[in-house]
Amino acid sequence: MYKLFGTLNIPGDKSVSHRALILSSMSIGKSEITNLLEADDIKATIKILKQLGITIHKKLGKWIVYGNGTNGFLQPKKDLNALNSGTTARTMIGAVSSNPIKCRFTGDKSLSKRSMSRVTVYLEKLGARFKLTKNDYLPLKTFGTSKLIPEEITIKKPSAQIKTALIFAGLNMGGKFSIREKVLTRDHTEKLLKYLNVKHKIIKGKDGSNLIELKGPYEIYSKNIRVAGDPSSAAFFIVGALIIPGSKITLKNVMLNPTRIEYLKILKKMGGKISVKKTNNVSGEQCGNISVCYSKLRGININKLLSPFLIDEYPILSIAASCATGETIMNGVSELRHKESDRIKSIVLNLKKVGVKAKNIGDNIHITGSSSLNKKICKIKTFGDHRIACSFMILALLNKNIKIDNEKCISVSYPKFKKDLKSLLKK
Ligand code: S3P
Repeated sequence: MYKLFGTLNIPGDKSVSHRALILSSMSIGKSEITNLLEADDIKATIKILKQLGITIHKKLGKWIVYGNGTNGFLQPKKDLNALNSGTTARTMIGAVSSNPIKCRFTGDKSLSKRSMSRVTVYLEKLGARFKLTKNDYLPLKTFGTSKLIPEEITIKKPSAQIKTALIFAGLNMGGKFSIREKVLTRDHTEKLLKYLNVKHKIIKGKDGSNLIELKGPYEIYSKNIRVAGDPSSAAFFIVGALIIPGSKITLKNVMLNPTRIEYLKILKKMGGKISVKKTNNVSGEQCGNISVCYSKLRGININKLLSPFLIDEYPILSIAASCATGETIMNGVSELRHKESDRIKSIVLNLKKVGVKAKNIGDNIHITGSSSLNKKICKIKTFGDHRIACSFMILALLNKNIKIDNEKCISVSYPKFKKDLKSLLKK
C-alpha cells in the first residue's frame, strides 16, 4: 500500500490571493504579486477587476497589477461573473459600492443559491443601493456612490467575507467608520492593510469582540505582495498523513495565521503527531513548516464556538473522524449549509456511502470512526464542491473502491491537487 512521504510546498492562500489582487487594484501604482493562487476562484476575481478597468497581467511568474486608487473602478460594460466564488462576489460587492458605478453580479448555480443580503444589508445602512434576486441572491445589481455615509456597524454573523466587504467599501468613505464583529474572524484583510501602511485601529474588547476603525478616504500606495501557502490546502495532506500507516511528511511555506490553523489543535487533540516550526513573515502573515506522521486518532467533541475557525476544514476533519476510534461530534455547524454545497448533507451522505456511521442531529454532525470501509464500489457525490472532492480523494487512498463523481471541481481552489498528492505518494 502507498503512504504519504516527503516534502511539499503548499500553493498560495485563496483568501489572501483575492485580497492581494483587490487591494492592489485599489492602490496607486504598480504592484507585483508572487505565489498567487492560480485557481478558478481567483481567476474570477482577476476577470472582474479587469472589467472594472484594472490592468492585470502575468510576467515572469509574477502577477502585475496597476492600481487605480480607492475610487478608481470604472463602469463595466458587461455582467461581472463571480463563478463559484463567494469571496469574489461578496467582497467585490463591497468594493464597488463606494464607487459611482452600476454593476450586475452573476455566479454559477451553486453561488446563485448563496445569500448575498448578508452583505448588502450592512452596505445599505451606509447608503449604497442594491437590487437582489428574491431579495437575497445573484444576479444582483449594485448602484454605488462615492458619498457613502459612515456609521458604526455591528456584524451579527461571524464572517470574514462580510467584514472584508465593509472594509473595502470603507476605504473610499469619508469620516470615521467602525465595524464591530462579535468574535474575531479570519483577519487577512486587516493584516494586509497594516502591511500596506493603511492607517486604521483595531480595538479588542474584553468580551472577545473586535472593533475596526477606519478613517477614509484612503490613498494606498502600491507595494509588492507575496502570498503565503494555504493552510486549508495543507489540511488535506496533513489528514492524509495521519490516517495512512507509515506516512511522514513536511509541508513548507504554510501560513500560520491563528484564525486559520485551529484545525491543527483539533487534530492534535485527536492524537495526531504534528509539529510546527515557524519560519518567516510573508507580507504580514507568519509562515512555517508543518511535519506530520501517521497516528492513531480518537474521536472528540468539537465546541461550537470554534466553528468560525474550522469552517473550511470540517470536510477533511470528517475524514479524520472516520478513521478515529470512537465518536466525533462537530457541534454548531449550521453555517456549513451555506457553503459551496450544503456541507452537512454532503459530508453525512458520502460518509454513509463509504460505510462510516454518520448522522446529522440539529446543527451537529456525529461521526463514529470505522476500521472497515465499504468493500463495494461507491461513488462520492461532490455536488461540485471542491473541498468535498479533495477530502474524499484523501479517504480514497485507503480504499480503492471510493470513486469521485466530479474531480474537476478541485480547480476552484487547488488545480494542482492531484499532481501534488502524487508527488507525496510512495510505496
Ligand atoms: C473566506 C471566509 C470564509 C470561508 C471562505 C473564505 C474569506 O467564509 O469559508 O472559504 O476569504 O474571507 P465566511 O467569511 O462567510 O465565513
